[in-house]
Amino acid sequence: MKNIIVGLLGFGNVGTGFAAILEENRKIIENTLGCSVIVKKILVRDPGKYRDTVIPEELFTADADEILTDPEIHIIVELIGGIQPACDYIKKALENGKHVVTANKAVIALYGKELFELADKNRVSIRFEGSVGGGIPIISSLTKSLAANEIEEIVGIINGTTNYILTRMDESGLGFQEALAEAQSKGFAEADPTSDIEGEDAAYKLAILTHVAFGVQVNPKEIPYTGIGQISEKEIDFARQLGYKIKLLATVRRHDGCLDLHVHPALVPFEHPLAAVSYEYNALYIRGNAVGEVMLYGKGAGSLPTGSAVLGDVIEVVQIIKNKIGEKNTFADKYQFKPKAISSGSSAYYIRLQVKDRPGVLGKITTAFGRNGISLESVVQRGRGGLSVPLIFVTHEADREMLDAALKEVSAIESVEEVASILLVQNKS
Ligand code: HSE
Repeated sequence: MKNIIVGLLGFGNVGTGFAAILEENRKIIENTLGCSVIVKKILVRDPGKYRDTVIPEELFTADADEILTDPEIHIIVELIGGIQPACDYIKKALENGKHVVTANKAVIALYGKELFELADKNRVSIRFEGSVGGGIPIISSLTKSLAANEIEEIVGIINGTTNYILTRMDESGLGFQEALAEAQSKGFAEADPTSDIEGEDAAYKLAILTHVAFGVQVNPKEIPYTGIGQISEKEIDFARQLGYKIKLLATVRRHDGCLDLHVHPALVPFEHPLAAVSYEYNALYIRGNAVGEVMLYGKGAGSLPTGSAVLGDVIEVVQIIKNKIGEKNTFADKYQFKPKAISSGSSAYYIRLQVKDRPGVLGKITTAFGRNGISLESVVQRGRGGLSVPLIFVTHEADREMLDAALKEVSAIESVEEVASILLVQNKS
């Protein structure tokens, strides 16, 4: 079979990883495909910068159209990142009848539906495995290996920066700022880590997972997210004493005909497999109605892991081209959920109160919880004899509105100084 020609848009961290794997594993890839994958052109801002690299200088161009309109190019690999001009380049490539592989989380989260429809209209494929979870094959697991299931729930640790920070705070008692500085010095956090720390990065990835698993494009800006900026080493210590790790979880689950989606720091029981996911690693815990629970684990970012996902997509697209398989890129809304299917849902909660250490305080608080229909699983008081002590409650599954009503009443109790922390608690399995 004739060789497959690729046009690469962007040559940063992931682009160089992609090219390195293609070179290193060329034989394996050729044996798999029965043909070669050849990069014909690479779009960069300043081609002169690449004069002294091992890649021939004439491969580099600053003119996107030279790649997007080249009739010889079969597949466009978009690794520029950001929304524009990446999104316009992808559209133009699809309109020109080229297959597209991208790792662009923002573009797929915001414009996925439109792009998948455009791919179908032009009878080409679009793949985006590298957009969620770096090297972890989550998208192809959902679209292929788990496709016979009704997906009930996906719970993910899908941000490596925050997982690294929480792990270091837990194991070494580092403060948030120290752990962040360490993550930055090791290259696990960006110079501006705001989107990661605040949970926005995870919300974008969750929007993509929701689209693939449930067929619903949710605007990532409408997904409620809370980051880890408020998590102190003290909170991590309390959680540990109760048998939990604190993790930033991205969750989507079916609940009363709606989708409950959120990104929130949560207490994960030690015995839950997600509790063992540490440092910069990511993991996805999926529950399907036939398969039961499945967990995928691996490196969620980085040049080679993400490059591996991108090249895997390219290999799949080559197989589609080779076998002339017509395919559908759009995701059917399998469950007819309302388009804006975001509910606050229910969960078990961890509540830390700061209270005056006086007889009868605990009784008043538990009565207030009971009056508002909140059932308690455990209560722990840490410290004694001081003027002010922490009181920690873990509730059974509770509706957030009922919890808020209870906490309003609890806050009004004279000896309650502060509702210091409210975190979600993940089920044991
Ligand atoms: N910054 C992300 C993370 C990786 O920390 O996981 C890219 O989405």
